[in-house]
Amino acid sequence: MEKDFNPFLVSGYKDASHFCDREKETALIKKNLQNNINTTLFAIRRIGKTGLIRHVFNSYGNNKKIVCIYVDILSTQNLQEFTNLLATAIYNRFPENKSLGKKIIEAIKLLRPLISFDEFNGNPELSFDLADAKKYEKTIQQLFSFLDSQNVKIVFAIDEFQQILEYPEKNTEALLRTHVQTLKNTQFIFCGSNQKMMNEIFNNAKRPFFASCSNMHLDFIDKKKYYAFIAKMFANYKRKISPESIDYILEFTCCHTFYTQFFCNYLFASGNKNITISNTRSVAADILKLNENTFYQYRNLLTVAQWQLLQAISKEEKLYNAHSKSFIGKYGLGTSSMVSRGIEALKEKEMIFYNSSVEKPYYETYDKFLMRWLQHH
Ligand SMILES: Nc1ncnc2c1ncn2[C@@H]1O[C@H](COP(=O)(O)OP(=O)(O)OP(=O)(O)O)[C@@H](O)[C@H]1O
Ligand SMILES: [Mg+2]
Repeated sequence: MEKDFNPFLVSGYKDASHFCDREKETALIKKNLQNNINTTLFAIRRIGKTGLIRHVFNSYGNNKKIVCIYVDILSTQNLQEFTNLLATAIYNRFPENKSLGKKIIEAIKLLRPLISFDEFNGNPELSFDLADAKKYEKTIQQLFSFLDSQNVKIVFAIDEFQQILEYPEKNTEALLRTHVQTLKNTQFIFCGSNQKMMNEIFNNAKRPFFASCSNMHLDFIDKKKYYAFIAKMFANYKRKISPESIDYILEFTCCHTFYTQFFCNYLFASGNKNITISNTRSVAADILKLNENTFYQYRNLLTVAQWQLLQAISKEEKLYNAHSKSFIGKYGLGTSSMVSRGIEALKEKEMIFYNSSVEKPYYETYDKFLMRWLQHH
């Protein structure tokens, strides 16, 4: 065990031993890849979509027959930037000292990219200076088909995929769909944090990607499994934590991955070697205090009515019937149509989400710390 390492990650991915569960999901994605099926991951924010992709990639270890390439396209604004990112990801994925790597790097160089170096990490960055969008389309096609013609399986994960809807080149979806369909050895995993836009791309019958992938829904991590994971991480570092404390954390965060990781990270960082429920409660209070400025900023971004509605939903924790007389009356929210409008606005701003993947769907506040804070304000 690394002595100063905090085993609860709040960004990125380390290895399988710091990753909780997701066994079934990992197996299913791998089965899809093996059977030439592309996967789209659907889930609410901060539940662990990106982490799962990293975990699947990590599970292939040194398998030389599979090459996994990850691109996060959130920062791209157009097809040119998409092409640059794609070429950079491919270029950096292959070590030049291996024969396949040499071949691929030579092939990319034939496309005449400009190579610069990232000023922070020194990694090579590729960019193309081409006359128009059509030339970028051609370059994308060359990159994909060259990779596809090598004797290996390529897995491309494109994260924050909904970003393509922001490109001025409106044919990007159709263009990528064509590649996805025609490549023989290349499989894709699509993922995005904006559920509404991802649904629009993949579940709208009028759009190119409709019914082209296997849709996978990523749910909350099972409470028992998260409990065991938290206990193990603390035990690995010779820390004692009381069972009530772990129950308290999972209750406080509703098992939502990011918030649970954050809470545990903070608790671990306190250095306490024998964690009791009262330590845990006081860490919860510290976390809320730490986030208070952000909560006030949220309040400034909402109307008074929206803020009141958010507070009401937070107090309910799970709101099953937003239009019931008792809910509207209890919190003085006006009319049913005012509540409808408020809910739409809060959903749009990603302050709440609608969990429809359970038998009795409900609305819930996204940010679990904000939810707990609002319950007391
Ligand atoms: N199974 C897991 N076990 C432990 N930590 C995890 C797990 N899955 C994700 N995490 C951690 O939780 C945090 C949120 O995960 P991640 O960024 O993968 O979520 P996401 O769904 O991609 O979020 P977004 O919607 O913002 O893109 C990260 O810090 C990640 O390290
Ligand atoms: Mg993500």
